[in-house]
Amino acid sequence: MDRELALETARVTEAAALASAQWMGRGRKDEADDAATTAMRTMFDSISMNGTVVIGEGELDEAPMLYIGEKLGSGEGPEVDIAVDPLEGTNIVAKGHPNAMAVIAIAERGALLHAPDMYMEKLVVGPEAAGLVRLDDPIEKTIDITAKMNDKRVRDMTVIIQERERHQELVERVQQKGARVKLFGDGDVGASIATAMPRTGIDLFIGTGGAPEGVISAAAIKALGGDMQARLVPSNEEEAERCRKMGLHDPQALLMLDDLVKSDDAIFAATGVSTGELLEGVRFLGQDLVETDTLVMRAKTGTVRYIKAHHRLNQKPHLIETD
Ligand code: FBP
Repeated sequence: MDRELALETARVTEAAALASAQWMGRGRKDEADDAATTAMRTMFDSISMNGTVVIGEGELDEAPMLYIGEKLGSGEGPEVDIAVDPLEGTNIVAKGHPNAMAVIAIAERGALLHAPDMYMEKLVVGPEAAGLVRLDDPIEKTIDITAKMNDKRVRDMTVIIQERERHQELVERVQQKGARVKLFGDGDVGASIATAMPRTGIDLFIGTGGAPEGVISAAAIKALGGDMQARLVPSNEEEAERCRKMGLHDPQALLMLDDLVKSDDAIFAATGVSTGELLEGVRFLGQDLVETDTLVMRAKTGTVRYIKAHHRLNQKPHLIETD
């Protein structure tokens, strides 16, 4: 893939973040999501690539744009697969909570797991413990290994877990083990990637969240040299059948990082909508000036770029909310 593509992707997530941030705290998650999706879709047209959505807003009959199978880009340039989440954390934006982002992952054709929209168990560690932990190990053992590799006492470790009923027992076991628990409400892409970023103080991500989010996160974790293991959690035979149709013969197989993202030729981009573990949110600074923070990573080189941008909203009438 052309390395210029990495910088172009920043424009795509910036557009989605700018559009959805205008819906922050208005209690209208669908409008926030639609704004992000429309802005992202529009911006993709200007990118030189021959892209196909493999993880998107739904099947062709469920979503008007960014649906699975939709072609994106100018049609010229590299053949790529694209996973999009125009607004990761729709409820967050509606409520004005932290941690919402616009995110995409792009990889060479065929490299991204075509994860159906269902739950996925996930375990993420940073580079120090990469290759040493297993999703199927008891959490107590995983904590011991990660503490040792991160050169910390167990009591100084931070394990980040999504605050959900289904994680109650997990939280209690981590607490009994003596590690510190950081709970977050929504947005497991940012929380899981923070585990592999330097100086976040987060050592371990564990829990069950969305499978599409898992694949998108995996592109970033690969670029950061961290590790991730996952397992789809089909809740009934119909969901298991959907996995098989998408080429996953054993829907409950343990998925390694290389199963989630099969190539090093992968790009991850995220722009903060509301401030979270990874990024500052969109700031409206007055006089039409808006500031965004974006993170772009390439797995091939391991380069991580932070892009701070100033935008003039009056130059972007298509992004201004008209409601
Ligand atoms: P949405 O943007 O689709 O609302 O996802 C937010 C999120 O918190 C994800 O980050 C996470 O993977 C998933 O929801 C968890 O699902 P649930 O809310 O059903 O526990």
